Amino acid sequence: MPLHLAGTGVNVISLLWGLLDVAFLFALLLHQAGSRRSSRASLFCVFEDLIRYGKTKLGLQRPAWLHCFDVPKRWFSHFYFVSVIWNGILLWLLLQSLLLGFEIPAWIRSWLHFLNCDMQQQVPGGELSAVMALTLLWVHGVRRLMECLFVSVFSTGVIHLVQYCFGLGYYLLIGLTVFGHYQLDSRTGKIVNMNHAVPSGDWFDRVSCPHYFAELLIYVSIAIIFGLWNMTWWLVVIYVLFNQALAALLCHQFYHEKFDSYPVNRKAFIPFLF
Ligand SMILES: NC(=O)c1ccc[n+]([C@@H]2O[C@H](COP(=O)([O-])OP(=O)(O)OC[C@H]3O[C@@H](n4cnc5c(N)ncnc54)[C@H](OP(=O)(O)O)[C@@H]3O)[C@@H](O)[C@H]2O)c1
Repeated sequence: MPLHLAGTGVNVISLLWGLLDVAFLFALLLHQAGSRRSSRASLFCVFEDLIRYGKTKLGLQRPAWLHCFDVPKRWFSHFYFVSVIWNGILLWLLLQSLLLGFEIPAWIRSWLHFLNCDMQQQVPGGELSAVMALTLLWVHGVRRLMECLFVSVFSTGVIHLVQYCFGLGYYLLIGLTVFGHYQLDSRTGKIVNMNHAVPSGDWFDRVSCPHYFAELLIYVSIAIIFGLWNMTWWLVVIYVLFNQALAALLCHQFYHEKFDSYPVNRKAFIPFLF
């Protein structure tokens, strides 16, 4: 039975993104408040274990049982495998439906109906926007997959099992969110060492994590493709904003703790602002 919030104008997918927005804003604020008080409570430790990954987890004092939930950070590539395959299937089905008049399979329609994607705001030319956005997501997935396989050199960093499952679900949900708009130095270079260094050059001179900022811009550019007024997509953008702000803040703090001469004027995430 589909979960309708009739009369409220709210659809499940928007509600999900809205909850994620609030959860990541809350995590950002809680981390800030906790780090000021240097809290060591065990519940706070679990929270920090859930939000940190890779290098920002290295210095964290963790009870031994938390290590049971560690999976290698190099498994990030699985997210992009899922993204490439799933968003590729959705794009293929969308193109077949648009160009050849094929029906969207019933199982996808019932998922969209379950998530109330069919209640999403429709904009003129929404089909074209959905094709463009799905194409961009797919290309983004391919680019990230190639980056994980052939560019990134992962150290022994880990991610939490919950983060791993969340990442897999994220790429399934993001594809459906877009689909809902359709009405029914590379690795070939020399590795100097495996340590984390102070990055510099280009946008790195302005912020610690320009790649997170670029990620945000990608999602904002898709909002432009949707005509700027799609509320559900803005909820996705806000989620990426808080999620990447939290990751950037942790990374920024990691650099400040690790490197005494870290540039003081460099912001964490958004040039000149944050
Ligand atoms: N949309 C979303 O919700 C979402 C969520 C998470 C990530 N992402 C995107 O995924 C991409 C990768 O994210 P990430 O968090 O994995 O990035 P990251 O921590 O910066 O890692 C990327 C690569 O660079 C290496 N690295 C990081 N800092 C380094 C330093 N100071 N010196 C030398 N090597 C360093 C990492 O090695 P180690 O692994 O050994 O540190 C890894 O190989 C980003 O573009 C991000 O925006 C998106």
